[in-house]
Amino acid sequence: MDLYAEEIISHYEHPHNKGKLDAENATFHEHNPLCGDEITIHLHIDNGRVDRISFEGNGCAISMGTASMLTDFIKGKTLEEVEKMGVSTVIDLLGIDPGPGRLKCATLSLKTLKEAIFVYEHKSVDSGTRNL
Ligand code: FES
Repeated sequence: MDLYAEEIISHYEHPHNKGKLDAENATFHEHNPLCGDEITIHLHIDNGRVDRISFEGNGCAISMGTASMLTDFIKGKTLEEVEKMGVSTVIDLLGIDPGPGRLKCATLSLKTLKEAIFVYEHKSVDSGTRNL
């Protein structure tokens, strides 16, 4: 197994930031329509930044491993920075391109996170996010 795949599996087996969040002020639940796997992102946003973040869910190694890595990466980011993130953010984070068959697995947590932030800001979800 290559190093990147090992890291994803390690996050899947020992996820970071998994569970509920006290005093959350943004959340969103999403699923992958191709398989039914699901995730909920919990956020505490403070002063335009992601102060704390966690996730709950059930899914494949790529979706849950990515959620663990992404939630580590997102802490402290501004809402503006998160709104600009897309597929390339996830591929850079993973260090591999999961390929078209597994791309939805890899982007599920980012899509959910961005949807939570759009709702928090009372904005409608943009098409780039909807298509993640
Ligand atoms: Fe369901 Fe990956 S197979 S999210």
